[in-house]
Amino acid sequence: MISQKEYARRRKQLMRMTGEGSVIIVRAAPEKIRNNDVHYAYRQDSDFLYLSGFREPGAMLVLVPGGKGGKAVMFCREKDPKREMWDGPMAGLDGAIADFGMDQSFPMEEADKHLPALLKGSERIYYDLGRDIDFDHKLIGWMNEFRSKAHRDFHAPDEIIALDHLLHDMRLFKSRVELTAMRKSARVAVEGHILAMQSCKPGMNEADIHAVLLHTFTRHQCETSYLPIVGSGANACVLHYIANRDPMDDGDLLLIDAGAEYDGYASDITRTFPVNGKFSAAQKDLYEVVLAAQLAAIDRSREGQQWDDVHEAAVEFVAQGMLDLGIIKGTLEQALEEETYARYYVHKTGHWLGLDVHDVGDYQVDGHSRALEPGMVFTVEPGIYIRQDDQTVAERWRGLGIRIEDNVVVTREDPRILTSGAPKTVSDIETMMAG
Ligand code: GLY
Ligand code: MN
Ligand code: MN
Repeated sequence: MISQKEYARRRKQLMRMTGEGSVIIVRAAPEKIRNNDVHYAYRQDSDFLYLSGFREPGAMLVLVPGGKGGKAVMFCREKDPKREMWDGPMAGLDGAIADFGMDQSFPMEEADKHLPALLKGSERIYYDLGRDIDFDHKLIGWMNEFRSKAHRDFHAPDEIIALDHLLHDMRLFKSRVELTAMRKSARVAVEGHILAMQSCKPGMNEADIHAVLLHTFTRHQCETSYLPIVGSGANACVLHYIANRDPMDDGDLLLIDAGAEYDGYASDITRTFPVNGKFSAAQKDLYEVVLAAQLAAIDRSREGQQWDDVHEAAVEFVAQGMLDLGIIKGTLEQALEEETYARYYVHKTGHWLGLDVHDVGDYQVDGHSRALEPGMVFTVEPGIYIRQDDQTVAERWRGLGIRIEDNVVVTREDPRILTSGAPKTVSDIETMMAG
């Protein structure tokens, strides 16, 4: 588990960056109703979690830089034994200090009373507007009130600055502790994918494989980091297929995109393999194209390369491979220039990975593709999807959807693949499925 020391370190680092005279406000995620009287499983806001480790709703973190390391204040729900009988233990005001390293805590209902006092005298507020309109209005109201009363005794904050630039840049670079959590999350997801390969047989339903994944994640005390995609045959061409309830036919491929979430951190793996354990010639030919593209893109995932270089490496191999197979026509230059490959490769090659599966952080800096640096973690996931009704290609390619996705850490040396335990060469997959 991420330690309180690490959470405190993050808060201090953020306060150092915003500096004295600023106040930082981060709010917990709201609860969401699924239907009458029933909530969706609560998932804490990732920014809030990153800075506090606090998993309860109805809370707000306020950081006030200055003095020795600044001050951390938690507004949260008061302990309520009646409520605890229904929902389990609550940290309460004392727990926020004793267990979460806060310097002060107040009941959330008293935010109107205590928050203005924390803001008074500050020069700027770091806060992400637009997530909670009611609270935005309150904050602006307090600022206006201060301004009308401000005199030489105290300063009135006159700026609200988006917090996400600073905070998300911190989140983009993973610490050693974060990488440990991500390795565990990856390990659990790898186990799920291996068990899925080993249990898959023609005649089973996609739902059977979905259940194998959920069983594996749950018994390792992980959640799914997003709704798993278990798409056989042409379902694999539906990029966000989550129904996962068709029978799986002999001769079809199965695409599984599923990741675990451990201690808040996501993994995100895709493997595509034959339902019956043996690739057909056409499946193998197309699979090898995606695999070559993925390996080329991973090899490009190095310090000093740019984010776009990773995508371009994959695109070049996908385009050349599809030209060689006659799926698209012309020269490589034409394919790249006219983007003829894009009919079948419709997404980008990856995204940052962390507390959010599509993690935060800018992909461009000053209008240029971002240079890769050690500590960045992202997915590399090229894919080719040929619709069943595509009359422009030979019949053997129709209805094939193939993606291969791994999670990669940029280091000072070779890229480190967190998810390499899941087989991905044709022979490794066939051997695993035969075993
Ligand atoms: N599973 C979501 C993604 O691959 O981006
Ligand atoms: Mn994925
Ligand atoms: Mn992904």
